[in-house]
Amino acid sequence: MEFELNEEQQQIRASVREFAEAEIAPHVLEWDETQHFPVELLPKLAELGLMGVIFPEEYGGAGMGYIEYATIIEELSRVDGSVGISIAAHNSLCSNHIYMFGTEEQKRKYLVPLAQGEHLGAWGLTEANAGSDASGTRTTAVRQNGGWLVNGSKNFITHAIHGDTCVAVAVTDRAKGNKGITTFIFEKGMKGFAPAKKENKLGLRASETASVVFEDCYVADENRLGEEGEGFLQAMQILDGGRISIAALAVGIAQGAYESALRYSKERVQFGKPISEFQAIQFKLADMATQIEAARLLMYRAAYLKDQGKRVTKESAMAKLYASEMSVKVCEEAIQIHGGYGYTKDYPPEKYWRDSKLCTIGEGTSEIQRMVIAKQILKNVPDNYSKISDK
Ligand code: CAA
Repeated sequence: MEFELNEEQQQIRASVREFAEAEIAPHVLEWDETQHFPVELLPKLAELGLMGVIFPEEYGGAGMGYIEYATIIEELSRVDGSVGISIAAHNSLCSNHIYMFGTEEQKRKYLVPLAQGEHLGAWGLTEANAGSDASGTRTTAVRQNGGWLVNGSKNFITHAIHGDTCVAVAVTDRAKGNKGITTFIFEKGMKGFAPAKKENKLGLRASETASVVFEDCYVADENRLGEEGEGFLQAMQILDGGRISIAALAVGIAQGAYESALRYSKERVQFGKPISEFQAIQFKLADMATQIEAARLLMYRAAYLKDQGKRVTKESAMAKLYASEMSVKVCEEAIQIHGGYGYTKDYPPEKYWRDSKLCTIGEGTSEIQRMVIAKQILKNVPDNYSKISDK
């Protein structure tokens, strides 16, 4: 068992940190206030290989694994969760769906420009009435002229407006329930496919979240991703990897908030000494540091298993659940340590706290993660458990 990042991984952490502090940190507040999605940053992120972290070099990627990927998302999110979630949705949702289930031709056509950062990816599962109940998709795809006519809409889609490639699911055979859902690849500019309402969000305001609408959108059969009826199962497998990035997003946000509270506690003098000398503050900091470390270990365990090619349904749900709830708590404590100043935009914790909340909702709420974990642990109870407890 190895608990240290190797030299190369430490180097990756250091270079992403340096980049985030130089290129992102100076703009964080302004982007948040104005809800500016920083498209101008994308070429720089591409240059660092961050648009194709987890894909082999033959598909234009950086050829790294989930350990490196989680480290990168954590470091970006430590400075700005909006950039973290953008890289996450692009890599582990849209691009990875094409990598995992696409044909060689689809990978060449769509994955390569995504991984190289020439194109930006979006991924559409959620709908107005199909959130937690992902198989409740209402968007339909009906066979027509050798292709498909798609009608419906998707909600809360990262990069709905600037995305060049959108992977989305639609019902192709309602009678088959979750086995009647199929995945398609859509391209920006396709007739009948357009972005709609942009959300005005509590946090992660520099990440672009909007709906997309399909109105008699014709998509060729060669844009079908995988077999007919596989869409729901594919989406669940994509979310297994995606939830590792939400854990990393949550850890990074918490780390940023914690560091800001730590710094402030040493500067802020009350009753004649820095507040870090009071045990009430020390206990808070100790709990925050411990909880971040625990979440990081869960995140790395899920990432490690994913890199081993293992199924990580339970592990990624556990990492996401723990890390996201931890993140909200840690950010709240960071505000508390800052006192009245923490409630203002003059100090970082209020933004971290607003950003952290998404982690308990996106890619499956905390309640859904508990359902997923419960299902896995209940189906894997070893036979001899009951015999031992019977004695
Ligand atoms: N790996 C492999 N197989 C899986 C699986 C996984 N991770 N998850 C489910 N399956 C299989 C099950 O074994 C089952 O197979 P059988 O029918 O052969 O038994 C089948 O899929 C159906 O699974 P369930 O019975 O568990 O399905 P369900 O309808 O009860 O729903 C759920 C399960 C966990 C609640 C699921 O709907 C879910 O994860 N919901 C949350 C969705 C979510 O996270 N949405 C956020 C998306 S983010 C977004 O869209 C916006 C963006 O831009 C980021």
